[in-house]
Amino acid sequence: MAAAARRSCTNNMPISLPFIIASMTCLLFLFPGIDAQSCASYTFSNNQAYASCASLPRLGATLHYNYTAETNTVSVAFRAPLSKAGWVAWGLNPNGTGMVGSQAVVAFQHSNGSLVAYPTLLDSYAPSMAPAEPEELGFPVSDVAAEHIGGKEMVVYATVALPAGKGSKFNHVWQQGSSVVDDVPAAHPTSGDNILSTGTVDFSE
Ligand SMILES: *[C@@H]1O[C@H](CO)[C@@H](O)[C@H](O)[C@H]1NC(C)=O
Ligand SMILES: *[C@@H]1O[C@H](CO)[C@@H](O)[C@H](O)[C@H]1NC(C)=O
Ligand SMILES: *[C@@H]1O[C@H](CO)[C@@H](O)[C@H](O)[C@H]1NC(C)=O
Repeated sequence: MAAAARRSCTNNMPISLPFIIASMTCLLFLFPGIDAQSCASYTFSNNQAYASCASLPRLGATLHYNYTAETNTVSVAFRAPLSKAGWVAWGLNPNGTGMVGSQAVVAFQHSNGSLVAYPTLLDSYAPSMAPAEPEELGFPVSDVAAEHIGGKEMVVYATVALPAGKGSKFNHVWQQGSSVVDDVPAAHPTSGDNILSTGTVDFSE
């Protein structure tokens, strides 16, 4: 009875379940940085959906993104663990690798109680972390916002107009620091994962 049911099932279905599982396993091996399961399973508070996401290899961070090739823009949601104190940041380095030369979005809780999030220029190893004026930006960033979830995770949202002529693959950096002094993010640790949190992201994947 069971065997007959199974046979009729496989006869009627040109693509078998083992084939689907094998295909999905292949995809996971092809794109090791892309964790389709957590993309699909993470629910943002206002039900935003992002087409892709990557579990970043350091600091427990995740980048969710929607890339639009026609307009060369990407909408991102960067998530990183954070208790009440401290800050998180994510940035692109269009002309090099690592921190210096990156343009980032940073988020933290201001002393007045509000969450603040804005673009900033990482122009040295001791950047000001001050908000960048629009005319200072190497590429426009809009819709910057932050959300602190459950007292343990910060999410930074942004829409980035990607630098032209560079395709969809970029060097990126991300960071998390444990203190904010006078409403300015203070230096992050300069060892371990905090100096290894760099990589590449291809927004078309
Ligand atoms: C991402 O793209 C999908 C599909 O086009 C769309 O439904 C969704 O609203 C987009 N999300 C954001 C945050 O733009
Ligand atoms: C807190 O300070 C930030 C940055 O100056 C400002 O944008 C925000 O409106 C302030 N929030 C409150 C509640 O005063
Ligand atoms: C990257 O280099 C290009 C060409 O030299 C320059 O126009 C652009 O301003 C640089 N971008 C940033 C963000 O520094």
